[in-house]
Amino acid sequence: MTMQDRTSMENPDDILELDALKVVFPSRDREDVAVENATLRLQEGSILGLVGESGSGKSVTSLSILGLNDRARSSGSILFRKKDGSIVDILRTPEKELEMLRGSEIAMIFQEPGLALNPVLRIGRQLEKVIRLHDRSMKREDRKRKAVELLRKAGFRDPERICRMFPHELSGGMKQRVVIAMALSSSPSLILADEPTTALDETIQDEILDLLAALVRENGVSMILISHNLEVISRMADSIAIMKKGLIVEEGLKDEILSDPIHPYTRRLLEMAGNMEEVIHEKRFTPEEEYIHTSEYGYITSTHRILRRSR
Ligand SMILES: Nc1ncnc2c1ncn2[C@@H]1O[C@H](COP(=O)(O)OP(=O)(O)OP(=O)(O)O)[C@@H](O)[C@H]1O
Ligand SMILES: [Mg+2]
Repeated sequence: MTMQDRTSMENPDDILELDALKVVFPSRDREDVAVENATLRLQEGSILGLVGESGSGKSVTSLSILGLNDRARSSGSILFRKKDGSIVDILRTPEKELEMLRGSEIAMIFQEPGLALNPVLRIGRQLEKVIRLHDRSMKREDRKRKAVELLRKAGFRDPERICRMFPHELSGGMKQRVVIAMALSSSPSLILADEPTTALDETIQDEILDLLAALVRENGVSMILISHNLEVISRMADSIAIMKKGLIVEEGLKDEILSDPIHPYTRRLLEMAGNMEEVIHEKRFTPEEEYIHTSEYGYITSTHRILRRSR
C-alpha cells in the first residue's frame, strides 16, 4: 500500500492524524512555507491545544484540516475518521466530498464571530439557513424549533428572543455563542476552534471556554483549540502541541508537557507563562533549539518533532 491510499490510522482511538503536513504558498517570485512539518494526532473525544508564536502555522494547519487551502501546495497526509468509521485523507479528497465533510463532520469556530454572521439577517433566520444546508427535507417549523434548541445548547436562556435579534444587537460573547450554535447544527465530530476567545472581553472568555469544554465532554466531540494563551490551553486541553516556524516541535499529554517539557522552546514558554508574549513573538530558533533539530537524540524524530508517545 502506498502513502497515497493509507486507510488505517496508527491508533484506533484517534479521530485525526496529521503526518508530515507541509503547506507551501507559491507566488510569482517565491514560495512561502507556511507549514514545514506538522505531525500530530487527536484522540477521539479529547481536546488538543495548539500553541505557538504568531505566524507559526497554526491557522494554516487548521484550514488544511478543513481542506480550505486550495491555493497552496500541500504534502503529507491528514487522515480523518468519519462518523461511519471509514478513513479519508483530506489532502486527497475531492472538493465535493470535502464540502460534505465541512457540512456534517468538521466545524470551525474563528476568532472574530462578527465575520461569521450576516449583518442583515436575524439570528433565527441565519441558523435556519445553516440547518437547511444540512437537511433540505426538514420542515420550516422544525428548523425553527431546532434553531431555538441549538441556541439553548450554546448557553442562551432566552433563545426565542435571540432568534429575533440582529447580530449588531449582540455583544461579542453572545455572537460567539451564536457561532457555536451554528457549528453544532451539523452535530460535528470534530470542532476546530481558532483563538475562539481572543477577541472577547476577559470576563466572558471563561464562559465561552467552559461552554466549549462542556460540549466536548457531553457530546463526545473532539476539538483542536488554538490559542496563544498557555493558561487557557493548560485548563482546557488533554494534550498539547507546540508549534514554531511551521514545525510542531513537541507534542504530548498535557501533564507530560507541563511537568516535563523536553524542547527548549517549550521550556521557555512555560517559564514565561506569565509573560509569554515575549517568547511567543520570537521568529527564530535559538542555537540550542537548532541543535536539537539537527542532533540525533533518541527522542527526536527525523521530522524534528520530539516523540513522546506513551499513550
Ligand atoms: N494565503 C496565504 N498566502 C501566503 N502565505 C500565507 C497565507 N496564509 C498564511 N500564510 C503565511 O503562513 C504563515 C503561517 O500563518 P498562520 O496564519 O497559520 O499563522 P498563525 O500561527 O495562525 O498566527 P497567528 O497566531 O498570528 O494567528 C505565515 O507566515 C503567513 O504569512
Ligand atoms: Mg492564526
